[in-house]
Amino acid sequence: MYDLSMEKSKAERKYLILTYGCQMNVSDSEVLAGYLEGMGYSAVKNEEEADILIINTCAIRKKAEEKVYSRLGMLRELKKNKPGMIIALWGCLAQHEGIARKIKERFKFIDLVSGPNALERFPELLEKAGSAGKTVFDLNLLGERESLPVKRNDGFKAWVPISHGCNNFCSYCVVPYVRGPEISRLPEKILNETKELIKNGFKEVTLLGQNVNSYGKDLKQKIDFADLLRTLDQLDNNSLRIRFMTSHPKDFSEKVIRTIAEGKNICEHIHLPLQSGSDRILKEMNRRYNREFYWKIIEKIRTIIPNSSITTDIIVGFPGEDEEDFALTMEMVERVRFDAAFTFIYSPRKGTKAAEKRNQVLPEVKRERIIKLNKKQNRINLEKNQSLLGSIQEVLVEGKSKTDINMYTGRTRTNKIVHFPCTENLTGKFINIKIKEIRTWNLIGIID
Ligand code: SAH
Ligand code: SF4
Ligand code: F3S
Repeated sequence: MYDLSMEKSKAERKYLILTYGCQMNVSDSEVLAGYLEGMGYSAVKNEEEADILIINTCAIRKKAEEKVYSRLGMLRELKKNKPGMIIALWGCLAQHEGIARKIKERFKFIDLVSGPNALERFPELLEKAGSAGKTVFDLNLLGERESLPVKRNDGFKAWVPISHGCNNFCSYCVVPYVRGPEISRLPEKILNETKELIKNGFKEVTLLGQNVNSYGKDLKQKIDFADLLRTLDQLDNNSLRIRFMTSHPKDFSEKVIRTIAEGKNICEHIHLPLQSGSDRILKEMNRRYNREFYWKIIEKIRTIIPNSSITTDIIVGFPGEDEEDFALTMEMVERVRFDAAFTFIYSPRKGTKAAEKRNQVLPEVKRERIIKLNKKQNRINLEKNQSLLGSIQEVLVEGKSKTDINMYTGRTRTNKIVHFPCTENLTGKFINIKIKEIRTWNLIGIID
C-alpha cells in the first residue's frame, strides 16, 4: 500500500514521463503532464528522483517495442530500491496483442498498464495504482478526449490533435488496433484551443491526426479538412505557422492544395507517405491508391504551390516485395524527388494481416534495399537543398543548436532545418536567414 498524500507534501512530489513514438504520443504525454502538474507534481529529469514514472510507449515496429523492454529491465532494480515509486506503462504498446500477458509474467513490478485512450481516466487510475498492491490494467479503447488538461513544453510550438485513431487498416500497421477507430474532434474545440494558443504567444501549431485529410467525415456537421484549415488560417494575420500531419494520399483533395496555396499562415510543406512505388504492393498494403494517382497529386501540388516541399514515408521489404517491386519504388523516388524521406524496414506486427503472410522478405535483402534507397534519397536531399543556396528564408528559431554552442537552429516554412551563428537568444522569433551552405539534412546561413 502506498499513500502518496501521506508520504510527501504536494510540492515535493516529482514525476517523469519518457515518451517514445510519434507526435501523437508527445501530445498525449503533454496531457499526462497537465494532469500531474494539476495535482501538484513537478517534473524531474532523471528516473531516480521520480515518485511517478510514466513510460509512454510505441508499438509501430519491433525496435520500438524492444526499446521499452530494455528500459523496463533497468527499472526493475530501481523499483526494488524504491518500492513506493509508481511505474506506469502507457500508450500504444500497452494495447498491443499479448503485452498484458507479458507484463503479468515478466514485469510484475509495474503498477499501471494503460492504452492511449484512457487519458480521461488517468487520475482515478493513478489513485488505484497507488493502492492496489498489484498491476492495474485499463485497456479500454473508448475514451472521451475533449477538455483534457495540457502542459506544453515549448512556449511557441504546440501540437493540436484534430482526430484520434485510424480506420484505414493498412495491412502492415498496428495503429488502428492500438488507438481504435478514427474520431474527429469538434471544430469549435480546435478553434478555441488555437485561439488560446495565439493569445498566449504561440507561433506554430501542428495539427495532428493519423489521416488529417479524412477529418470531419464522422461529424454531424458538414466540415472537411480544407474548411478547418481555412478557418484556422483566418484566426491570425501573419505571426502564426500552421502545419499538419499526416496526409493520406487517398483522401488528399485539390481543395486542400488550394487552401494551402491561398492561406497566409499554412506552411508549404506536405508529408505524403508513399509507402511503395509498386501497384501490386500498394494493393497488398491496402493503401487504396496506385502510383499514377499518387503522381497526379504531386503534379497538382507542384503546379498550385510551386515553392512547396514534399516529404514521405517508405517501407522496404513488405512481404512478397521482389526486385521488380523495389525497382518501382526506386523509380518513383527518382521521379518525385522528395525533399526528404523517412525509410523503414518492414517489421511484422502481431495481429496485422501482413504479419500472417508466408512470403516474408529475408532480413539481408531488406537491409540491402534500405541502403540502396537511402543512398538515392540522400543524393536527392542534397540536390533539392542546393536550389536554396543564396536564398533568403524566413526561419522560426527553435533554440540553441544541439551540436554547436555558437549556433542557433530554426526551421523554414518548408520544414528545413537551418543553423546560423547568433549571440542573442532569438528562440520563438521569426527571422530572415541567408543560406550560405547546404548539407544533406540541414542548411547553414547567416542572419540577413
Ligand atoms: N498515419 C500515418 C503514419 C503512421 S506510422 C500514415 O498513414 O502515414 C508512420 C510510418 O511508419 C508509416 O507511414 C509507415 O511508413 C511506417 N510503418 C508503419 N507500420 C510499419 C511496420 N509494420 N513496419 C515498418 N514500418 C511501418
Ligand atoms: Fe497506419 Fe495506415 Fe492508419 Fe497510417 S493510415 S496509421 S499507416 S493504418
Ligand atoms: Fe504513434 Fe507509435 Fe502509437 S507511431 S500512434 S506511438 S504505435
